Formats: sequence, structure tokens, C-alpha cells
Amino acid sequence: MTVLVTGGAGYIGSHTVLALLEQGEQVVVLDNLSNSVVESLRRVEQLTGRSVTFYHGDIRNAACLDEIFTQYHISTVIHFAGLKAVGESVSNPLEYYQNNVAGTLTLLQQMQQAKVYRLIFSSSATVYGTNATVPYTESAPVGATTNPYGTSKLMVEQVLQDLARAEPHFSIIALRYFNPVGAHESGLIGEDPNGIPNNLLPYISQVAVGKLARLGIFGDDYPTKDGTGVRDYIHVMDLAEGHLAAMRSLPRVNGFKAYNLGTGVGYSVFEMLRAFEKASGITIPYQVLPRRAGDLAACWADTTLAKQELGWKAVRGIDVMMRDTWNWQRQNPQGYQS
Ligand code: NAD
Ligand code: UFG
Repeated sequence: MTVLVTGGAGYIGSHTVLALLEQGEQVVVLDNLSNSVVESLRRVEQLTGRSVTFYHGDIRNAACLDEIFTQYHISTVIHFAGLKAVGESVSNPLEYYQNNVAGTLTLLQQMQQAKVYRLIFSSSATVYGTNATVPYTESAPVGATTNPYGTSKLMVEQVLQDLARAEPHFSIIALRYFNPVGAHESGLIGEDPNGIPNNLLPYISQVAVGKLARLGIFGDDYPTKDGTGVRDYIHVMDLAEGHLAAMRSLPRVNGFKAYNLGTGVGYSVFEMLRAFEKASGITIPYQVLPRRAGDLAACWADTTLAKQELGWKAVRGIDVMMRDTWNWQRQNPQGYQS
């Protein structure tokens, strides 16, 4: 039996592929390399001593999916492929709905045709939108998303629920990630954003290696512990292990289930900055800027359900997140091009 990982060359995908291989799974990756390089998978192979079958292709290409489902006996699909830049989704919504929604529809149709009924989908805490209160439980209201990226995740969750209702032989888990950070402890694989990073920790670590001059902090007047935004940062290897736990639970899932993958702890921007400085020994210059449009004051998870039903919880704390972020950035100042 083989696991198909869409978007497996990307940040979270590559770490999950590594965890799957270490568990002895056979893995096929389908990725169009629109936001990744195949070097990530070569390094995963180097770390595990195992090989990954790689298809350079697109989830919107039914023929490519058909070939994979015909060629391999796929038991489960872990579906990471999609676009994820919030700002870009506002200026180019059609690309986002094409890749994230239409792409997932094509994947689901091909799964249906091939009688592959087990799916894990990369959702996001962004589906809670502005209606929920912290800590977010899975039963909190979803909707009121503030950008096409978030709406695309919400739309896919809706499609998955409708499909699972119509065809109860499907077992589908949507994992709502909070803020993934960090890298594999080897420092060989990690997050390699294109251009100027949108996210906090990649930005801080690029300041640390001198690629960027200073961090801009988007607002210090939020109603939080120190005025800066608070988020639930989760180590990417904890996230990868969350996928393994979800995969083990899939046979017990009839229909659709959603789980939060977070730590349940919120850290402010200043706390993240200080923790990074402690781990790296480098002082990060910063300036406080106006709030960024669409940002929430605070967002963190209630992690009870994943603990109870998946038997999983995050075990890596903020010091490990910072150590591994810095280890990756220091060894690969230009990302995979280093
Ligand atoms: P990433 O961009 O590193 O990985 C996504 C991968 O999908 C990339 O390798 C990209 O080349 C590939 N891809 C994109 N469109 C494709 C298509 N049409 N066909 C085939 N491959 C395609 O992003 P990531 O951080 O690893 O995120 C993985 C998933 O998790 C995404 O669906 C993202 O929306 C979701 N997610 C990420 C975060 C985060 O902060 N990183 C938070 C919540 C949810
Ligand atoms: N921040 C800064 N300066 C920066 C970058 C971020 O001050 O240069 C602050 C933000 O204002 C926020 C915090 O750091 O308070 C975290 O910001 P990120 O951009 O790292 O993460 P977000 O929580 O804004 O976004 C993440 C994912 C999105 C997802 C969203 C909601 O990156 O994909 O969570 O779930 F949509």
C-alpha cells in the first residue's frame, strides 16, 4: 500500500513525507513545484535512506492523477497541494480558487473513480474567521473569512462534508493547522519562502542572516499581553506526526471530521522575537508599523479533541522551534539554493 502526498515537496509536505518514510510507508509525491524545489525530497531521501517516487505534475490534471492511481495501489491521499499566500489571494482570487478548490475537486473525482476513499486535507485555523473566540474548538463557528485563501479552505471543507454525507464509505479528516514553524532537527529541510517572507519567523530568521534589514512589527496596540499579535505556533515535526496520527485514525472515521493541530499556547510577536534572539544569540532590529489588514489580535487552539480522538499532542516547545528554525536558516541562508 502506498500513500499519495500532493504538494509533498513543499514545507509541511516534505516534513510529513520524511515522517511517513521513517514509519516504513511507501510514498508517491505529486507536486507542480510552483512553490518548492525537488531538492527538498532529495534531502528527505538522504535523511531516511529511502526513496520517494516523484511526479512533477498538477492536481488539476486528471490524466496525471489517473496514471498515479492506476500505477500504484494508493491507500490514502494526504493533500497539501495548494497556494497559501493570503495577500496574493486578494489580488489574484481566481488562481486561488483554481488551485485550491477546482484542484481539490479534480483530485476527489479521480479518487472516487479509483475507489480510494481515505483522505487527509490541509485546512487552516483561518476557517474560523472572525466569528470565533479563543481558544478555538472545532465546534466554533466557521466562516466570515477575510480573504480568498481562507474562503478556499472553507469551501473545500464544505465540499468534503457534502461528499462524505453522500458517500459514507469516504473517511476524510481535515486538519486545521495553526501557525507552522521550525524545521527538521537536522537542518537539512525547512521552510524556503519565495521572495520576501509574509510570515513572522521566516522574516525574523532572514533578518538574522542579513538578508533583510529589520523586522516590521504589525501593530503594538492590540488587546493582548504586550500589544502585539498572539498566535499558536506549532513545530512542523509535531505537525508531521499529527498527520501520522490522523492516518492511523482514518479507518475509524465514517464521513468527515475536523481537528485542530496546534499547541494550545499563544505567543506574542515580542515573545517570539526574544525567544529567537535567545536561541541564535543575534539581536534582531525591529520597528513597530501600523496593523496589517486582516490580522486578528489573538488566535490559539483548543487541542482537546485531537488528544482524545487522534491520541496526538504537540511535544516541542518554543525553544526547540527557535533552535530548529535557526539551525535550518544558518545552514541554508539562501534556502535550498544554498
Ligand atoms: P508550500 O507552498 O510549501 O507547499 C504546497 C506545495 O503544493 C508546494 O510544493 C507547491 O509547489 C505545491 N502545489 C501548489 N499548487 C499545486 C497544484 N495545483 N498541483 C500540484 N502541486 C501544487 O506550503 P505549506 O506551508 O507546506 O502548506 C501546505 C498546505 O498546508 C497548503 O494547503 C496550505 O494552504 C496549508 N496550510 C499552511 C499553513 C502555513 O502557515 N504554512 C497554515 C495552514 C494551512
Ligand atoms: N507579523 C509581524 N511582522 C511580520 C510578519 C508577521 O508583526 O513581518 C505578526 C502578524 O501581525 C501576526 C503574527 O506576526 O500577529 C503572525 O503572523 P504570520 O503572518 O506569521 O501568521 P498569520 O497568523 O498572520 O497567518 C497564518 C498563516 C496563514 C493563515 C493564517 C490564519 O500564514 O496562511 O495564519 O490561520 F491564513
